[in-house]
Amino acid sequence: MKIKSGNFQVIGKYQMLYPVTRRVFRWSTPDPEWYWNMVGHLIFSNEGIIMIDPPNVPGLIDALKRLGNIEAVILTTADHLRAAPYFSWAYGVDIYLPRQVGNHLGDDVKYRVGRLKNPILFNEGESLPCGIRPFSVQVPRTKPYHSVDEMVLLTQDGEIFTGDLIMGSNEGKILTLDEFFHHPSDSIPNETDIIHNFIEVEKVIKKTKAKSLLVPHGYDIIGTLPQATSEKAKTVLKTP
Ligand SMILES: [Fe+2]
Repeated sequence: MKIKSGNFQVIGKYQMLYPVTRRVFRWSTPDPEWYWNMVGHLIFSNEGIIMIDPPNVPGLIDALKRLGNIEAVILTTADHLRAAPYFSWAYGVDIYLPRQVGNHLGDDVKYRVGRLKNPILFNEGESLPCGIRPFSVQVPRTKPYHSVDEMVLLTQDGEIFTGDLIMGSNEGKILTLDEFFHHPSDSIPNETDIIHNFIEVEKVIKKTKAKSLLVPHGYDIIGTLPQATSEKAKTVLKTP
C-alpha cells in the first residue's frame, strides 16, 4: 500500500508518528512502571496497517482510524501485549502471538492472553501478514528475572523487529538486554548473559541478512545493522 499524501497530513496533525523507513512509522510512551520507553511501530502494507508491539497513547486510535484499516497486530513476545487486548476487543483485530515454549510468563500476562478475543499463535517459519517471517530466539540465562524467548520478525524490506533481546543506543550501537534493562535489585550486567544474548542475536542477524533493527524499547538502527553487529562482536566476543 502506498502511503497517501493525506496520510502525512494526519500523521503531522497528531504529531506522534515518526517516519523510520519506507513503509514504517514509530511512536513511543514511557512505561509507567519503569524508566524506559515502550515503542510501537506500524507498517503500511497492501492488506492494511500492521502494528508491532503497540502501546496505546492519546490520539493513536483517532490517527489510525484516519490512516486506514488495521489489519493485524503482531507481537514479538507475549510480554508485549500492551494495547493488543484493546485492539482485539474494540476492533476485532487479529492478534498474532508467538507460541512460546517457555513458561516464564507471569500470571498477569497469561491472564491477559487468555482474554484475547482472537489470538493467532504462530511458530517459526510460518508466514505472517505483510510477508513477515518469524525467527524463534531463546537465550539461556544465569538469572531468572527476564527470560528471553521471543520471535524476531523479518520484513520484506530486510528490517528485523526484536522484542527485549537487543535495542539500539542513541549512537547507533547495539545494546543487549542485560546492558539496557537494569532492575534496581540486579543492576550489574552479567557478562555470561551478555555473551549468550549476543551470540543468539548475531546468528539471527546473519541468517536474515537484516540491514535495519526496529525495537520496542530504545532506538532503531537504520541501514547500519551489519556494521553495528561487527563492532559489537569486537567488544563482546573479542573477535578481531
Ligand atoms: Fe519489553
